[in-house]
Amino acid sequence: MVIAIDGTSASGKSTNAKLVAKALGYVYVDTGAMYRTLAWHCLRSGVDVHDPKAVTAVLRRWKTRLICVDGEVQLLVDGYYPAKEIRTAETSAAVPHVSAIPKVREWMVRRQQSCTQFGNLVMEGRDIGTNVFPETDFKFYLDASLEERTRRREADGISEDLAKRDKRDSERKAAPLMIPLGAVVVNNSGQTPKQTSEFILGEIRRRLAARG
Ligand code: DC
Repeated sequence: MVIAIDGTSASGKSTNAKLVAKALGYVYVDTGAMYRTLAWHCLRSGVDVHDPKAVTAVLRRWKTRLICVDGEVQLLVDGYYPAKEIRTAETSAAVPHVSAIPKVREWMVRRQQSCTQFGNLVMEGRDIGTNVFPETDFKFYLDASLEERTRRREADGISEDLAKRDKRDSERKAAPLMIPLGAVVVNNSGQTPKQTSEFILGEIRRRLAARG
């Protein structure tokens, strides 16, 4: 079982995916964190994130492994999970460049698909329902107004041009951000995470019941 949650930046994917995973007892996978980890690793290694060849070369010699800790999957770099470092403004600015490289996406998708080794999944990202698990019957696409999403980021102490990042993510050639076929679209402007996650859980339970 894979629940795919895609959507724009700061649309509440992480918060809601975690709540849904907890309620169902599923493993939570933040695929954005995986792209961020690669971007951070390139920055600290002095690799130019605008150079696809250099980034792809990093992947070939990268010592990584996936682990599951307290119901969450982590991509380790030399045995370390850079939880704080991947959330800095510098990493956020670099990540759309590495995530636009087709070879990077192929590498990530293989690892994301291998997460089923840990159990049933709630996986969030930009291309989960379109590209990573297109066959799943449980697809959600989250969005909220740009104003509200900007406020949410600012509340986390992060000032970011979300419109610019969304534009990059939507316009790239490799697996662009789009609403997956058959996805339930949830605009959660003005909603609390409890309201949004309960709506998602209700929809999952309804579909499961219909399956018998
Ligand atoms: O969800 P996030 O902000 O942590 O994602 C970071 C970046 O990674 C975002 O700009 C888009 C990219 N990304 C992607 O291209 N595909 C995914 N499945 C997840 C994230």
